[in-house]
Formats: sequence, C-alpha cells, structure tokens
Amino acid sequence: MSSVEATQTQAADAGDRKSASLIVDNKSVEVPVYEGTIGPEVIDISKLYGTSGYFTYDPGFTSTASCESKITYIDGENGILLYRGYPIDQLAEHGDFLETCHLLLYGELPNASQYEDFKGRVTYHTMLHEQMNRFYTGFRRDAHPMAIMVGVVGALSAFYHDSTDIADPVQRDIASIRMIAKMPTIAAMAYKYSIGQPFIYPRNDLDYSANFLQMCFAVPCEEYKADPVLARAMDRIFVLHADHEQNASTSTVRLAGSSGANPFACISAGIACLWGPAHGGANEAALNMLEEIGTPDRIPEYVDRAKDKDDPFRLMGFGHRVYKNYDPRARIMQKTTHEVLDALGLRNDPTLQVALELEKIALEDEYFVEKKLYPNIDFYSGITLRALGFPTTMFTVLFALARTVGWIAQWREMIEDPQQRIGRPRQLYTGPTEREYVRIGDR
Ligand code: SDX
Repeated sequence: MSSVEATQTQAADAGDRKSASLIVDNKSVEVPVYEGTIGPEVIDISKLYGTSGYFTYDPGFTSTASCESKITYIDGENGILLYRGYPIDQLAEHGDFLETCHLLLYGELPNASQYEDFKGRVTYHTMLHEQMNRFYTGFRRDAHPMAIMVGVVGALSAFYHDSTDIADPVQRDIASIRMIAKMPTIAAMAYKYSIGQPFIYPRNDLDYSANFLQMCFAVPCEEYKADPVLARAMDRIFVLHADHEQNASTSTVRLAGSSGANPFACISAGIACLWGPAHGGANEAALNMLEEIGTPDRIPEYVDRAKDKDDPFRLMGFGHRVYKNYDPRARIMQKTTHEVLDALGLRNDPTLQVALELEKIALEDEYFVEKKLYPNIDFYSGITLRALGFPTTMFTVLFALARTVGWIAQWREMIEDPQQRIGRPRQLYTGPTEREYVRIGDR
C-alpha cells in the first residue's frame, strides 16, 4: 500500500517561488504554491498525476480551488463578501444593481457617463423576440416557474444567433447585456403566465427594478405606479444575490462554458443547478418551513428535528459551505425585511416573528454554535419577497435573475483565461474489475 505524506510548505531556494513537497511512495514530488491577493494560498496539483500516478480526492470540493478569479472574494470565517474589492454592505447601501452589474462585468464602478451608457444598452435589450411568447403556452399554467426559466433561457440561443460565437469578444459582450436585460422580462412573463394574466412589456422610462416590478404587477386596465421604497428594496435584493465566488451554480456555468457551449445554454444550466433546495431553492424552502412552524411555540420541535442525525430535516436558510460566521448578506436582508414590512404596514408579520425567534434560539444552541451554522441569505429573503407580492415559487426565479450577472461575469473570465481548458475531473473507481460477458441463458 503506497503511503502519501505531505511535508510543510517550503520556501524554495530559487527566488520567492514557493512550493510544497509530497512524499509519495518514498519519492518527493515538488508542487508549486501560489499566493492570491487575499485568502488562502493554493497548491498547484495539476501535474501531480503525471509525476506521481496519483489523483487527489475531494468530493464536494471543500478544499479545492477550481480556477483563478478576480471577481468576488468571501472570507467565511469573518463574514466578509467583496465584489471586485468593494464590501457588499457598501454596495447595497450606496449603489444600485446596474452599477453592480458594470462592476462585476468590467471590474470597475462606472462614472456618470459610463453608467448612463451601460443603463442605455441594457434598457435597449429588455424586449424579448415576440415569437418566444409561444414557449410559455407550451407549459402547464401550474408549471414551476424555474422549469420555465430553464427552458426559455436555453431557447434564447435559438433566437440570438448573432451573440453565440464565444470566440468573438463583441458577441460575448452583446450576449452579456442581453442576458442581464432580458432575465427580468422572462421572469415576469413566467409569473404572469402562472396567474393567467397578460404579459406586460418592459418600459424604457423606468429603472431596472421598478421596470421588473411593473412587468410583474401591472395590468393593462390601469396605470401602474411603482412604489420607490419597494423598487429600492427589490434592487438591493438583486445586489445581494449578484455573485458569490465558485458556488454550485457558478461552477456549473463555468464547466458548461469550458466545452465551448453558448452563453445562453450555460446560463440555463446554472438556473437548473440553482433550483436545488440546498442552493438557490433554499429561499422557497425556508419560507415554507417558517410557515409550517407557524408559531414560536413550535420552534423547539423543529430545532430538535434539525439536530437529529436520523431526521433528514434541516433548518432551511441556515448553514453555509463557506460562511462559518453570519452571512453578511443575511444581515442586510434582515434590515431590508424590516423596511419593506414597515412600508407595507406588516410590522407584526407572524412569519417574521417566527424567523426572529428561530434565529435567536438556534444561535444560542450548542449544536448550531459548534457547527458554526448561521442564517444565510435565504433565511430572510422569502419573507421580504412574499411581502413584495411574489408567490414562493417565484423566489428562486428572482435569485436566478440577480445571479445572472455573476454567472456571466464568471463565464467571461473563464473564456478569457489563457489557462482555460475543458473541465474534466477524474475519480476514485471502486466498481467491478474486468469480467467476461455471460449469455443470458447462462446467468
Ligand atoms: C446558497 O455556495 C454558495 O455560495 C451558495 C450561496 C450563493 O450565494 O450562491 O450562498 C446560496 O446556496 C446558500 C445556502 C442555502 N441552503 C440552505 O439554506 C439549505 C440548508 N443548509 C444546508 O443544506 C447546508 O448548510 C449547506 C448545503 C448550505 C452547506 O452544506 P455543507 O457545507 O456541505 O455542510 P454539511 O452539509 O456538511 O453540514 C456540516 C454539518 C453536518 O453535520 P455533521 O454531518 O457534521 O454532523 O452541519 C449540519 C450537517 O448535518 N448542518 C445542518 C444544517 N446545515 C448543515 N444541520 C441542520 N440544519 C442545517 N441547515
């Protein structure tokens, strides 16, 4: 049986190049170590198989960096989230979603003229090819809107052929703008279809989030008045959800893109992954859980179930792969929840009371303290989105709408990375060794 021993990272003699040595079958294998601007250093094992005949093994990628990136940084121990170096609380407080889109896509906050130009380009692309309306009528009215999103977004590649050549930077940029611009229209149409109301066209005189709310809640029979407090809250929710490093859906988009698939197909793959309740589907699951708990007196029963190893129940909206501290987005989300409920005169929303009490109990319980489980962005978002008028089935759609800019920014970075090649992980095989075929009569 081979033994593998890792020795300490050593500063190599030659210059400041760092390396680590792995002892594999009594042979020392040198592997380079790279430093980022902030965050953990990485050990480059890309040549390990070629030099040692060993794979590494990391199901769930808990200790594996899949790429180099300059977009988003998370310090999970200290609950810090930076978009291109800017703290999420400052962007949520002082900026808006389109400004955040410019920052994530191009690396810098736009000045006034760049902002107006970017806003104009997005506004110009908000309409959908009229023929795409027919996709919706192919779905049942009670189809989950995430199923519609996966289908319609994937179908964009059947209509916008002039922005599917990923080798052309101009086409990549048009596809990026189209995705950011059309997601609110596609999402609003999915909502309207589910309630049997006519589709509402985008309006160029409204800003991004107010336009989205009017496409969702306006009706042809009367003029729609956008509530600036609710539009601001919607916009801030989009900022909070815009990007989050190499999470499951972003990794899906990167892997799909590494084969050369067109951007619309890659985003559709990201939407499908985000739908899972362990990921973006948690906001819908968290609100359903809070409503099922119903009253604060029933909280202990659910906390006990969440702690029971034999019970698959988990506290939805709690815990995170990276945050072992309070998710900074959850803190801002809770503040936004209070603002929206106050603006709507729903301060005593019973579900919010359950959420606040559940958070208090969980954060004092040694199980959650020991496992460093804190509320994540999905814990409060559902209460706010329901107050804004959305059904729970639309919650993950809104997450996908906001995360589209993050997916696109990460996809572009992957395409433009000179080290980029098709992603193709290996495995630890534990299946049958080779054996001879047996005819059915002899089995
Ligand atoms: C998002 O990656 C991202 O960045 C995602 C995201 C983004 O912006 O893209 O932040 C969005 O997906 C937020 C997370 C939303 N999901 C949920 O709220 C669902 C509930 N949370 C869990 O399913 C879980 O916490 C995960 C999936 C979020 C994280 O899972 P991990 O990192 O694989 O952790 P784990 O499942 O190994 O849990 C570690 C321990 C386990 O106990 P032990 O096996 O060690 O005894 O903590 C326990 C788990 O049982 N645990 C929970 C729990 N979450 C973890 N126990 C009860 N309730 C929970 N919510």
